[in-house]
Amino acid sequence: MKGLILSGGKGTRLYPLTYTRAKQLIPVANEPVLFRVIRAIHDAGISEIGVVTGDTDAEIRAAVGDGSRWGVRATFIPQERPAGLAHAVKISQDFLGDDRFVMFLGDNVIQGGISALIEQFAHSDWNSQIVLTRVPDPQHFGVAELNGDGSIKRLIEKPARPPSDLALVGIYMFDASVFAAVQAIEPSQRGELEITDAIQWLLTQGYGVHAYVHTGWWIDTGKPLDMLSANEHVLDEIAPEVAANAEVAADSEVGRHVTLQPGARIRNSTVRGPSIIGENTVIENAYVGPYTSIYHDCTLTNCEIEHSIVLEGSQISGVPTRIVDSMIGRNAIVGRTVRKPKALKMNLGDYSNFWLP
Ligand code: DAU
Repeated sequence: MKGLILSGGKGTRLYPLTYTRAKQLIPVANEPVLFRVIRAIHDAGISEIGVVTGDTDAEIRAAVGDGSRWGVRATFIPQERPAGLAHAVKISQDFLGDDRFVMFLGDNVIQGGISALIEQFAHSDWNSQIVLTRVPDPQHFGVAELNGDGSIKRLIEKPARPPSDLALVGIYMFDASVFAAVQAIEPSQRGELEITDAIQWLLTQGYGVHAYVHTGWWIDTGKPLDMLSANEHVLDEIAPEVAANAEVAADSEVGRHVTLQPGARIRNSTVRGPSIIGENTVIENAYVGPYTSIYHDCTLTNCEIEHSIVLEGSQISGVPTRIVDSMIGRNAIVGRTVRKPKALKMNLGDYSNFWLP
């Protein structure tokens, strides 16, 4: 069995963070979402992975390398434009050949334990398996209507009036019959070749498509608030670890569910878990509260922060109000100046948000 990870697309809903970075590389609990996906596929016993890339091809290639870090072999498949998930399958046919495969959207974060499901498909005689989960806003997803016996009645992409609350999760399993499906379908109203339409085609043609209903958590990290909730779930799930060379000064308090990565230093501060402090990050005279991920090479002094994500190389100092529910990009500076006039001064990127209490 092979793996296919979709890492193209533009990530416009995560601007400004995705102006300069692929959305699949934004870290959740200090690990890029794409790396979690690679690990999940590897855990299912798959070692051949194709990665479909778009505008951020160079960045994705640099981050993933040859895949040996995870014990997999990575092949990159550039997609000229984001023409749809079924289009991505179409251009990957040479790589996939006749093998059964799992397709994983590179921006989906799902509760651990999905690997057993993928392994089960490898040994089944279904032509396809889809993963469904109940959501409060099904109109934003592909939606499935099931028959009383759990078999699939029909699938529709982002319906205005959803027939159920069962959304298609971004994990799909196929055999080679999907190639006839992606050839047969036409672009949707949004101009994309939809994988939902390809699976509906398989159903109509009488192929065996099995639906699995996932009851754990699942997040499609399209918007900043989704990133924060994915961060919460993953921080709850990971076993805390304190690196041997992390330093906690005697005047500091570090909770039990805190991960300190190599070279992290905590001085005269309180860090409450679940949270994670990245490599060589310094926390001084500060409070880091639950559900916070501070990435590598950051400095936080004289400030308080919780329920937030801070990316690498950022500096936060002397902020008089606690920072909450925030996402701070790479090499950002949030601080104080004594220079007059006494006023707010900012240098915000396009599409940034800045909220006063
Ligand atoms: O997240 C689950 C949903 O994903 C499903 O419920 C929908 O049925 C499915 O169509 C898809 O909907 P989205 O509109 O959320 O997909 P999005 O355009 O965000 O793309 C998902 C990922 O695939 C993202 O990492 C970018 C990548 N991608 C997307 C397109 C359209 C590609 O690599 N190539 C593409 O052509």
